[in-house]
Amino acid sequence: MTFHNFFLFRRFNLLLFFYFFTSFIADAQNEIDLSIRQRVSDLMSKMTLEEKIGQMNQYNGFWNVTGPSPAEGNAKEKYDHLAKGWVGSMLNVRGAEEVRAVQKVAVEQSRLGIPLIIGFDLIHGYKTISPIPLAESASWDLDAIKNAASLGAKEAAAAGINWTFAPMVDITRDARWGRVMEGAGEDPYLGSQIASARVKGFQGLDLSSPNTVAACAKHFAAYGFAEAGRDYNTVDIGDNTLHNIVLPPFKAATEAGVKTFMNSFNDLNGIPATADKNLQRNILKGDWGFEGFIVSDWGSLKEMIDHGYAENNHHAGSLGLNAGSDMDMESYIYLTELKSLLKEGEVTMAQINDAVRRILTVKFELGLFEDPYKYCDVEREQSVIGSKEMNEGVLDMARKSMVLLKNDKGILPLKKQAQKIALIGPLAADKNSPLGNWRIAAENNSAVSVLEGLQAYKGNVITHEQGVKLVEAIPAFHEEVQINTTDKCGFKAAIKAAKKADVVVMVLGEYGFQSGEGRSRTKLGLPGFQQELLEAVYKVNPNIVLVLMNGRPLVLNWAEAHLPAILETWHLGTQSGNAIAEVLYGDYNPSGKLPMSFPRSVGQLPLYYNYKSTGRPGADGTDAGSVFWSHYGDEKNTPLYPFGYGLSYTTFEYSNIRLSSNTLDLESSITASVTVSNTGKVKGKEVVQMYIKDHFASTTRPVRELKGFELLSIEPGASVDVQFEISKEDLEFYTEKKIWEAEPGAFTVFIGTNSATKRYAAFTLR
Ligand code: BGC
Repeated sequence: MTFHNFFLFRRFNLLLFFYFFTSFIADAQNEIDLSIRQRVSDLMSKMTLEEKIGQMNQYNGFWNVTGPSPAEGNAKEKYDHLAKGWVGSMLNVRGAEEVRAVQKVAVEQSRLGIPLIIGFDLIHGYKTISPIPLAESASWDLDAIKNAASLGAKEAAAAGINWTFAPMVDITRDARWGRVMEGAGEDPYLGSQIASARVKGFQGLDLSSPNTVAACAKHFAAYGFAEAGRDYNTVDIGDNTLHNIVLPPFKAATEAGVKTFMNSFNDLNGIPATADKNLQRNILKGDWGFEGFIVSDWGSLKEMIDHGYAENNHHAGSLGLNAGSDMDMESYIYLTELKSLLKEGEVTMAQINDAVRRILTVKFELGLFEDPYKYCDVEREQSVIGSKEMNEGVLDMARKSMVLLKNDKGILPLKKQAQKIALIGPLAADKNSPLGNWRIAAENNSAVSVLEGLQAYKGNVITHEQGVKLVEAIPAFHEEVQINTTDKCGFKAAIKAAKKADVVVMVLGEYGFQSGEGRSRTKLGLPGFQQELLEAVYKVNPNIVLVLMNGRPLVLNWAEAHLPAILETWHLGTQSGNAIAEVLYGDYNPSGKLPMSFPRSVGQLPLYYNYKSTGRPGADGTDAGSVFWSHYGDEKNTPLYPFGYGLSYTTFEYSNIRLSSNTLDLESSITASVTVSNTGKVKGKEVVQMYIKDHFASTTRPVRELKGFELLSIEPGASVDVQFEISKEDLEFYTEKKIWEAEPGAFTVFIGTNSATKRYAAFTLR
């Protein structure tokens, strides 16, 4: 046998092995599915109507977290319902012992002993907090994002949780909306990749492992398009935006095997999402073949009365189930109304059975029937929560999530020795804000502050001044603090410290709860007196590094125009200060890229790179020679920092963009390539981004759309050829025919360092 033949033979054997191995796995999976199906049917044949309806009922733990609980002080009633088997799930019960206690009632006191599925908002870490999801998304590092989700799952699962209400996959184009912090930003392609990575991270390869949890794609759908960025507001978008922009990440989550969906508070084109049959029954459960279950958002069945869509609870129950909402979170409506609705013929037994079958299937898949207490091991809880593995994981994610927005005159990285550093700002020593908004299980003030992170480097002298104080606002609720808007007494000391310093590091932005649910804002500058403080310090020492902490894009025109360096650190989690110090001192070279455009003015919102051309496009700026084109009289159209933007301590040069062919046939593919060179002095990572423009189609198309990216690490002086394969799937969109397909015609490929890149090549699809 020649070497070549031997190689072929081995390859053939390997292929054969792979084939048998994968068919063995597939067969084994089919058997499990079959047996689960059988076990669900057997169980359902024993269930009374009340017990079935009970599975569709979800209660909050015995306290309120994100919304009003319909019956205050109803713990006794909830307990009785648990014992009767009238509760399928609880949320916000956490801790191995607490979960064991409620599970015990369900399993040991109810007639059939059906275990509860325990839900929790594991959004960016359980007790060890990862960067907020928007920050993680800025890494464009899918492996890291997946790993962050799986670590979060492991930690939460050790505390009794087996179902997370994440990932949030809402596309967000409006930074006024506080919940932009929870998602992956403005782009459906990046959003889809991240949705898939997060689902796989939470659920792992084996849902029945005690280290994984069921995931939940939310909020279905279009919640991110709340009018004027005001939370819970109405949404009115056409089919074109719904299918091309909003739905793709949800579809990606489905394809990644997500077990559950959550619907949303908003109405969409006149119908509350909770009652949207087209979305839930036709698209999700029909076209996409989703086999998991849909939970309502908190009280969203009941809220249909306030929407003016349901007449009363009874009506709301009928609307919800008919539309395919399987589980009622905290509206107490299915439990009280479904029985009579069934009698009246307003809902059917088939609908109830379908919902219950879906819910029970996930419980079987989690292995809860084998061992309902598998997530309730106190010893495991103690060893996993807050462990070294967790802290190293969130530190790694934190490093990767920062975005360097500006670095003139090489002010960064900071010198490690003999520097006088003035560390100024309300967030500089704050150990709470870096935890961000969703951190129910974290201890308050448990993050490493920037002050602590910098102090760990011993070579410099650091003087710390708050400048603007944090004040307590609503101590009873999440122990929130606010940035002072009335007291400037800290200015003097801050200015004095700045005068004496070689370099000033200012840590400014939003306090931890200033973004998130219910935290919409109309102003996106630095809140409180922070801008004034920044300008006052600048007057005495312009050598400023601005370290931003925030949960959304901010308007930073003044800072961009005046300051030499700006580092976007978002709300970076438990290890915040350590990660920030590493970047400031150059021990980690930043590589994040913005997942949302940063506006020049709130008036530009919603703002996104993949906008439509309009019939009157023009050069950017206010001087296009005419008034009658699509623009503002007082501001540019473009963002201050575009989607995909971010710098490094090294520089990259792009050259030689080329295509393997200028024509693409429907059944084949072509390759777009570019050479990327590290032209600086240190090793660095770059996210090479490919965008495609469809020039002419049956519906208007965005000016460009992200269709591929590659995260590369390049040594100084080295060059790398990057290739992207393009086939018709990359060119498909929701056409005039209301199907996804690619339409022949002219296309342009752009490859570069952010969404504003001008480097291009052209091809035709035949
Ligand atoms: C939020 C959901 C969350 C739920 C449970 C609601 O207010 O919209 O995203 O999962 O509360 O906490």
